[in-house]
Amino acid sequence: MTILVVHGPNLNLLGEREPSVYGTLTLAQLNAKIVEYGRTRDCRIRTYQSNHEGRLLDALQRARHWAAGIVINPGAYGHTSYALRDCIAGIRIPTVEVHLSDVEAREPFRRISTIADVCIAKISGKGPQSYLDAIDLLLSSRAERRSA
Ligand code: DQA
Repeated sequence: MTILVVHGPNLNLLGEREPSVYGTLTLAQLNAKIVEYGRTRDCRIRTYQSNHEGRLLDALQRARHWAAGIVINPGAYGHTSYALRDCIAGIRIPTVEVHLSDVEAREPFRRISTIADVCIAKISGKGPQSYLDAIDLLLSSRAERRSA
């Protein structure tokens, strides 16, 4: 199984961006951790980051040809973008929304998710573990669908 992990805007600055909120791992370190975790679960991981909404949509649309699951940290586009929501609905690949920080406990605008209704789950507030839990969820939901 191959999973696409997508990071949205400003996540390229992980490590230097508000470390008290988002932690001290750089994006490269976070990706290495995710890929390594995938290896322990027999799962290939591809990662992608962009600050541009359209590029994120292009990457998600391309993934419909090969990805069995998607983990997406949409950054602030997850609070604002209906285009991202429609894209996830359209490609019909099981998708989990993740956030490093606890978006429910921060400013009110962060409680809004435009993509939650087209994702199978939303995991936030666990730092890098949010991504690893999302991978586990995709693997177990695939196993469930296969045995159904
Ligand atoms: C974030 C939370 C968003 O509200 C914010 O805009 C981000 C990062 C997180 O991972 O906690 O860019 O998605």
